[in-house]
Amino acid sequence: MTIAATQRFPGPAWEELPDVTLLESWPPETPLPGVDVLVEAGIRIGLAELDLVPGLRLVANYGVGYDGVDVSACRERGVAVTNTPGVLDAAVADLTLALILACRRDIVVSDRFVRDRRWRRGWAEPELLGHDLAGSTLGLVGLGRIGSEVARRAEAFGMRVIHHRRSGGLPLEELLRSADVVSLHVPLTPETRGLISRDRLALLRDGATLVNTARGAIVDEAALVEELVSGRISAGLDVFAEEPRVPERLLDLPNAVLTPHVASATVETRAAMTRVLVDNVLAFLRGEPLPNPVDR
Ligand code: DGY
Repeated sequence: MTIAATQRFPGPAWEELPDVTLLESWPPETPLPGVDVLVEAGIRIGLAELDLVPGLRLVANYGVGYDGVDVSACRERGVAVTNTPGVLDAAVADLTLALILACRRDIVVSDRFVRDRRWRRGWAEPELLGHDLAGSTLGLVGLGRIGSEVARRAEAFGMRVIHHRRSGGLPLEELLRSADVVSLHVPLTPETRGLISRDRLALLRDGATLVNTARGAIVDEAALVEELVSGRISAGLDVFAEEPRVPERLLDLPNAVLTPHVASATVETRAAMTRVLVDNVLAFLRGEPLPNPVDR
């Protein structure tokens, strides 16, 4: 069996894989007829790409989100797909809280204030007043594993947590109107693409904060940029619609905290993700049931 990977993933589990060919580019410049297993993160795998890897039998996706992979096209071609759920919930929830704090307490703006040598008066001057987390309302869109971890942390900060999910909670519009902070925790699917549309963004309260550690395309990004440029809301964004492109107009805004899709980026979590990925590949090579198959 031949294993190809778009990159090497961190952590000791990687060494347990038999020979891995590192690909120089994706999609490959010439077809790869001999590849059985493709290990990847964040690439597009649709019909055109599958045509280039005709012998493929397994796509092992590094990450819980697999929106770049056309799972039904894979199924039709007899290609199994796996992901790495369950090991990154805490790290993503931590970064979500970090972005909430950064926005509500003006942490990045304050840091810049000091570095720009603009701090000239005493601490009691009302130059940088943020908002309390305690007593404010957090609206979670999605209450799966990651959303629940965010809820637990937010409650410890004294936030009132409300949620919207497919199977219950508040209607989305009501949540958007009621929350001081809205945080997104749904996967990107055809149903959630553009879920936070221009009209829905307009429902956010003046001064509200939107946090996105899920996927950029869940939000109408052009509409979000306009809301942020107007200064009506703030946002903590770890994800963008067309990564690594970040809308130029966001770069100088004080009311947007921007991170480069690092919610799961800790040494421990990334190694744990590699462990799960490798377990799936090894199970496949042994002909055993896959621990984390993705079927839709
Ligand atoms: C995932 O796992 O889908 C992430 O976006 C990487 O943290």
